[in-house]
Amino acid sequence: MLYGNEALSEIGILDGINEIIATTETRGRINAAPLGIIKDGDSLYVRLFLGTHTYENVLTRGWFVANITHDAWLFAETALEDLPDDYFVRSDDGLPLLKDAEAWGLFKCEAFASDIIIAKVELVKGMAIRRDFRACNRGANLVLEAAVAATRYMALRTDSYFEELMKMQRIINRCGGPREREAMDRLMERIDSFSHKR
Ligand SMILES: Cc1cc2nc3c(=O)[nH]c(=O)nc-3n(C[C@H](O)[C@H](O)[C@H](O)COP(=O)(O)O)c2cc1C
Repeated sequence: MLYGNEALSEIGILDGINEIIATTETRGRINAAPLGIIKDGDSLYVRLFLGTHTYENVLTRGWFVANITHDAWLFAETALEDLPDDYFVRSDDGLPLLKDAEAWGLFKCEAFASDIIIAKVELVKGMAIRRDFRACNRGANLVLEAAVAATRYMALRTDSYFEELMKMQRIINRCGGPREREAMDRLMERIDSFSHKR
């Protein structure tokens, strides 16, 4: 087990915006959603937008688990949907973790209610499970971008996000593997079911 902010790099949290999947919990129900942990030198914080389960859970419980994974499919899936229970496991002391996380970290977060929470966070403890490596894939990176655009499109219904998504889908189809293509198809299906634009 690793402890404290000194161990951030051991679990893959580096300078810049670290895209992780946050698991949180209320009343025994586990929630997973993408979240950016921003590291700027010694400063470490998150921006949480009102209206999400993650916001509510962090506000009430004061912690989240950062699951570090390369799997773009999981980002796309958790951006718009809940995951079934079999995607999660519990740590020895009961923390909700993504089964396929490559590393995880429990972050303490002192949050206060407002439209947007910008909260300092601190690594309490964490663990590197497997050091995965792979070549960069433009398709996988774009699935993350597409998941961001999809959440914004769902919230704001701005046409430009939809056009961006169509453009990203073409590149994902060319550069991604089957998992990235499936992730993108599922994002577009979900958007479709909320809109009749296509
Ligand atoms: C790559 C990525 C990064 C994101 N980062 C944040 C973030 O830093 N803060 C935030 O409030 N929402 C962020 N989001 C949007 C939330 O994940 C999204 O609103 C999600 O639906 C919230 O789910 P929940 O209601 O289960 O918490 C991000 C989405 C993606 C795809």
